[in-house]
Amino acid sequence: MKILVTGGLGFIGSHTVVELQNKGFEVVIIDNLSNSSKDVLKGITAITGKKAIFEEMDLREKTKVQDFFAKHADIEGVIHFAASKAVGESVDKPLLYYENNLGVLVYMLQELTKQEKARFIFSSSCTVYGQADKMPITEDAPVKPAESPYGNTKQVGEEIIRDTCNVNPSLSAIALRYFNPIGAHPSVHIGELPIGVPQNLVPFITQTGVGLREQLSVFGNDNPTNDGTCIRDYIHVVDVAKAHVIALQRLLEKENKENYEVFNLGTGRGSSVLEVIHSFENVSGKKLKYTIADRRSGDVVQAYADTQKANAVLGWKAESSLDDAVKSAWDWEQKIRA
Ligand code: UD1
Repeated sequence: MKILVTGGLGFIGSHTVVELQNKGFEVVIIDNLSNSSKDVLKGITAITGKKAIFEEMDLREKTKVQDFFAKHADIEGVIHFAASKAVGESVDKPLLYYENNLGVLVYMLQELTKQEKARFIFSSSCTVYGQADKMPITEDAPVKPAESPYGNTKQVGEEIIRDTCNVNPSLSAIALRYFNPIGAHPSVHIGELPIGVPQNLVPFITQTGVGLREQLSVFGNDNPTNDGTCIRDYIHVVDVAKAHVIALQRLLEKENKENYEVFNLGTGRGSSVLEVIHSFENVSGKKLKYTIADRRSGDVVQAYADTQKANAVLGWKAESSLDDAVKSAWDWEQKIRA
């Protein structure tokens, strides 16, 4: 069965391609290589022994999207990762984000709603909750005004899909709200490849560990948390990838009663920045150089998932510990710098 993975050479996309191939799906990848590299294909093949079909394409070119679906009429499901994800950049270039993340989404849905039956999985984010009033965060927690154009694209993206599903029973979709995916495949054939200075915590830590960065700035230690640093729900990227395959199987199997659903993808466990640093020190045996800096604007104090819905409805649960995930990120960092 043929599945399209857009952004399939990116961080979460590539891990999902591996899990799909492991389950026997035939994968077609579309990627514009704006934040990834063709070498990732080799990493995927090294793990699974299988080759994905790869099309280098920018999905903003609407006619190419149309041609693609005309050529691949046998695609049974789409997992849509292709999007821009840097919060700061989205503030500077809002139209780029609206075009990449929402324009493209509209083109995809326009094609899928022409089909007799279509299944669609969307990469959403816990960013839609903003600073939630209650922890852990359930899927019915209110969506808060977005802090950035990036966050807005995830909120509006979900609305676009929901509204489209509403009037198109032939389309079924699942939005997955990721908490903080980290780590790398345990084989270390694929992992995260941030461009420039990493904005996210774990790649910054591992780059500091190998000496690429001088020290980590911990953004604030005066928050109302156990140790004053912010709390997040860090989840192993392989657990996130597996959830996509399970969500896809649900779309392939289920009768079309509710054709739009939303699930949190997290571990249900909150970890502070200092706890992540200690985890790194534990798995690497190295001391991490860090300093306390001002809070980062737009950061929420804490966010961790209530995972009961995903556990009960999808039958999915994150399996890896924080140490497992941080260790895989560290192994990967060492491999790519060797
Ligand atoms: C960030 C984005 C979020 C996006 C997600 C994608 C912001 C405000 N939020 O989430 O919208 O969906 O990435 O991966 O950018 N930290 C440090 N020092 C650093 C880097 C981070 O102390 O150098 C802290 C942050 O303050 C935060 C935690 O580490 O408390 C995690 O940060 P990060 O990895 O950037 O993730 P989020 O802020 O949760």
